[in-house]
Amino acid sequence: MAAKSRELQAEIERYFAAGAEAIGDQAAMNAFLELREALNTGRVRAAEPCPKTPLGWKVNPWVKQGILLGFRLGTLVHMGCDEFSFVDKSTYPSRKFSVDHGVRVVPGGSSIREGAFLARGVVCMPPMYVNAGAYVDEGTMVDSHALVGSCAQIGKRVHLSAGAQIGGVLEPVNATPVIIEDEVLIGGNTGVYEGTVVRQRAVLAAGTILTRGTPVYDIVRGEVLRASAEEPLIIPEGAVVVPGSRELKRGTGNLSGLSLYTPVIVKYRDDKTDLSATLEDLLR
Ligand SMILES: CC(C)(COP(=O)(O)OP(=O)(O)OC[C@H]1O[C@@H](n2cnc3c(N)ncnc32)[C@H](O)[C@@H]1OP(=O)(O)O)[C@@H](O)C(=O)NCCC(=O)NCCS
Repeated sequence: MAAKSRELQAEIERYFAAGAEAIGDQAAMNAFLELREALNTGRVRAAEPCPKTPLGWKVNPWVKQGILLGFRLGTLVHMGCDEFSFVDKSTYPSRKFSVDHGVRVVPGGSSIREGAFLARGVVCMPPMYVNAGAYVDEGTMVDSHALVGSCAQIGKRVHLSAGAQIGGVLEPVNATPVIIEDEVLIGGNTGVYEGTVVRQRAVLAAGTILTRGTPVYDIVRGEVLRASAEEPLIIPEGAVVVPGSRELKRGTGNLSGLSLYTPVIVKYRDDKTDLSATLEDLLR
């Protein structure tokens, strides 16, 4: 880590630990604003790829502490203009973009908070929302009604389809955020929550929901994937996950003929999947 980031980390950790005493302290505010700018430019991230860890990603708890510090330090202010009036923490206005950023934000009900990074070539279709600490990499499409929650890490050329909800995690600060790796297709009305990791080129069919408590049945490899105390739920590279159901055997479930929602890995990505997942290049 560069010396500058190490210094910033030490400051953020100090002001976060100071609790309410940091409120009104201009030096604490300056440290937060420096972090917010570093998040805007993508220089600092809430989680980053790290080949040395078993997960392949390293969480930076101090970054999440800094984002929480921003909420503590901010006061409620009026934002917007006559037609569109909002009240929110002064530390988290919406980000302003210029043509030089190379990000398309189509007009109409979208908002990207300060402290979120969007790489060049990202397309945002209204209405959509990107929260503080999120990182959205090159060429990704954030379609209508999609949410990129706080600190979520979205890779290159990902398609977040209409209504996709990518959960955020600020607390606990050392929890892994949701991570969607490069070239993943997240279908319409899907939900990915609680630190779930979706490996490269995986496909979540429309309507799939993944949480820490959701077992995923892989009928290709004959495994059941679950989160553990040490690891979040991890969807393997290239997996094609569709919403399914399984018989409920416990309690009186069987007698009542109930079944539970269960995502199923039906196959690993092939040419047909690539065809189904072809992005609308002309829109870009
Ligand atoms: C997953 C998806 C990409 C299809 O991938 P594919 O590789 O072409 O899948 P296949 O058609 O070969 O299907 C493989 C198996 O999964 C099943 N399956 C496919 N999609 C499914 C779905 N959405 N729900 C339940 N089962 C599904 C198929 O029936 C098939 O099983 P079978 O052989 O027993 O019949 C597609 O279903 C999908 O969800 N696309 C996203 C659409 C979307 O959200 N668009 C948003 C635009 S904003």
